[in-house]
Amino acid sequence: MVCICYNILMILLGIESSCDETAAAVVENGRHILSNIVSSQIDIHARFGGVVPEVASRQHILSIIPVIDEAIKTARADWSDIEAIAATHGPGLAGSLLVGANTAKAISYARKLPLVGVNHLEAHIYANWLSSREPEFPLLCLIVSGGHTDLILMKNHGDYTLIGKTRDDAAGEAFDKAARILGLSYPGGPAIDKAAKGAKADIKLPRAWLKGTADFSFSGLKTALLRLSEAGLINNIESAAASFQASVVDVLVKKTTNAAVKYGVKQILLSGGVAANSLLRKQMASASPVPVLIPPPGLCTDNAAMVAACGYFRLRLGNVNGIDLDVIPSLSLS
Ligand code: KG4
Ligand code: ZN
Repeated sequence: MVCICYNILMILLGIESSCDETAAAVVENGRHILSNIVSSQIDIHARFGGVVPEVASRQHILSIIPVIDEAIKTARADWSDIEAIAATHGPGLAGSLLVGANTAKAISYARKLPLVGVNHLEAHIYANWLSSREPEFPLLCLIVSGGHTDLILMKNHGDYTLIGKTRDDAAGEAFDKAARILGLSYPGGPAIDKAAKGAKADIKLPRAWLKGTADFSFSGLKTALLRLSEAGLINNIESAAASFQASVVDVLVKKTTNAAVKYGVKQILLSGGVAANSLLRKQMASASPVPVLIPPPGLCTDNAAMVAACGYFRLRLGNVNGIDLDVIPSLSLS
């Protein structure tokens, strides 16, 4: 890793392709979005009930250049305005990551622009820098996505301590599986959120507290829902959706707010696709002893503006990658 000095003011192109969204964005100073283009593959994968990796990487190849062109055009920018490139290089699906990372490397080489590889989880956290209120350290970050449920203490840019994580299913994965059990559409999180609106959470479902730890577990809850469904005991899909959602949200809120007190943080940051959940947003904000920052729903799910924001702060820390940047499907944040 080479250390270079960068302007404080800088326009970055961000590229994201870790799963089933091909995305590109132009962001100034890591905080101001000039464009944010997302091409979703949801409709393509919906008939399989989940993301098919080979199909995803082929679709990224078709979409990546048009999406980047659109991001530059929407930002009313010219290639000469772009001062650096940030691309997700992990965690995620290997074939999908390769498309975005290799495109970024090719542009960096051709245009002699600095390149920074970004951790997708860290990028989710940085979606919070794209809102009007600037986060204040120390922070407690709850990342809730399709593949992760992590509680992270962030003392400064680049300074992360993992204090809790899921021991089995990620929160988003649990939402997706529960939706399948209930016969709702893919992706399951938004479908459950919608079905639960106005419904009574009157079905008794378990909550895994894992006392004495900041860890989470959602597989028992999912199995309990499956057993009820198999026994024909679910008469009302909306109530079942509301009850399942309440169980997940209760645990996420209680454990996060407890940890916020324990670690004496100034703010809680929510991020990741599940942070788009309406009940989680409402309950976390009302139960927390400290201010809660949550990106708008469109910046909670996968996008490239968060990648550009994260890349900007990484560059300011002196992190820059060479043309040998590799993808790391199991990259962790530590
Ligand atoms: O962060 P993300 O877009 O992709 C990953 O990095 O995984 O998160 C996707 C996950 C999916 O599991 C999806 O069902 C969930 O976020 N999700 C939601 C909502 N919107 C998306 N879960 C609950 N409520 C929502 N409104
Ligand atoms: Zn994500």
